[in-house]
Amino acid sequence: MIKSVILAAGKGTRMKSETPKVLHQIFDKTLVGYVIDAVNNTGLIDESFVIVGHQAERVEEYIKSNYTNAKTVLQSPQLGTGHAVSMVCPYLENFKGEVVILCGDTPLITSETLKKFIEYHKSANSDITVMSAIFDNPTNYGRIIRNSDNSLNSIVEEKDATEEQKKIKEVNAGIYCLNWEKIKPAFSQLKTNNAQGEYYLTDIIEWGNKNGLSVNANPLENNEEIFGINSRLNLAQASKLMNKRTLEKLMNEGVTIIDPETTWISSETEIGNDTIIYPSCYISGKNKIGSNCKIGPFAHLRGDVILEDNVKVGNFVEVKKSIIKKNTNACHLSYIGDSEIGERVNIGAGTITANYNPLTKEKSKTVLGNDVKIGSNSVLVAPVEIKEGANVGALSVITKNVSEWSLALTRAPLRIIEGWVRRKG
Ligand code: UD1
Ligand code: MG
Repeated sequence: MIKSVILAAGKGTRMKSETPKVLHQIFDKTLVGYVIDAVNNTGLIDESFVIVGHQAERVEEYIKSNYTNAKTVLQSPQLGTGHAVSMVCPYLENFKGEVVILCGDTPLITSETLKKFIEYHKSANSDITVMSAIFDNPTNYGRIIRNSDNSLNSIVEEKDATEEQKKIKEVNAGIYCLNWEKIKPAFSQLKTNNAQGEYYLTDIIEWGNKNGLSVNANPLENNEEIFGINSRLNLAQASKLMNKRTLEKLMNEGVTIIDPETTWISSETEIGNDTIIYPSCYISGKNKIGSNCKIGPFAHLRGDVILEDNVKVGNFVEVKKSIIKKNTNACHLSYIGDSEIGERVNIGAGTITANYNPLTKEKSKTVLGNDVKIGSNSVLVAPVEIKEGANVGALSVITKNVSEWSLALTRAPLRIIEGWVRRKG
């Protein structure tokens, strides 16, 4: 199996943040999380090394608690990308196979592209393969220098490039596939005789050529995939691109999205065909939405939500960590959290599951059986179970379980005082 190295030690100064750059999020997944998931989803890579430096502890903690097949390696001080990769040498001393190198701040890279890239590397019998990209404005990227026979000569960084070289539009995308056993010796031979005084990873290209290795560049099809995050503006741009990609995929799968401009859906949300998403919905985290559902306008699904077929979640309804079974409606102004809701249930406007106890800080579950009807403006104080077929009258506060097919009511009886206004007036 292949190993990966994910570079994430850089500072990310332009984010102007207390949070390490790679822990910033698109929806509720971190930038480095997207990269690790893309790596894992290739099915070809079994272990990743994430190089950490700035705020290393926080990244370390995140990786440890979220990924079993990724470990962090500290790079301190940060002396350049070549130095960063050399940090894994002790871990891969006897490793024979390929190592794929990526950056932790390019969340749009896909596993399909990585798979194709690795396939190219193998079929070309390459020892070093660099992913390249053609940019109209190549500023700041390392330029790909090719020989007259088109073979790869070297990579020159912007700051080291001549005016002629700066005109080259083919750039280094920052993703590499290396035959580790053959490249490993290069890391002890890198030098810092360049404009930035750093150990450049890109110098392995010239080293490979000098040592008779097979060195190649493989152009990327869609430049968007290597879009790097350096600022809050970039974060917003990448979120838009990621969202657009997800919405297009869902539409291709038969989901109607009335207004893609105002609809946000995380890449980890599955939606069945013939479901309609009305404008201004925000759906984050992992969710599974069935077929023929109607969501929104202005609905908020916050993750771990399962909606079976034919469910309606209407305007100003927020749902979190809940399952709503088929043919159930929650059409207006509700909060449904930590709940299990049966089939053919009607949840009246303004119903709230009070799932959080601020004194104990505990979250509790609300369970509604099949065919339950909840009257408008009711509060269901969890833990609570409303059993099959039971009805809850409008404006009730339910603090105890309600048995099958019964009616629960807590509101004060209505008084009508005849002629009161006339007498007072
Ligand atoms: C690098 C490449 C450049 C390429 C570009 C693509 C080198 C010398 N240059 O340039 O050819 O076009 O990426 O984006 O490799 N990092 C560490 N430790 C370090 C330095 C950097 O982990 O000591 C990490 C950073 O956090 C970042 C990545 O490596 O994720 C790239 O570093 P950065 O300084 O952004 O490289 P560029 O100058 O953009
Ligand atoms: Mg740099």
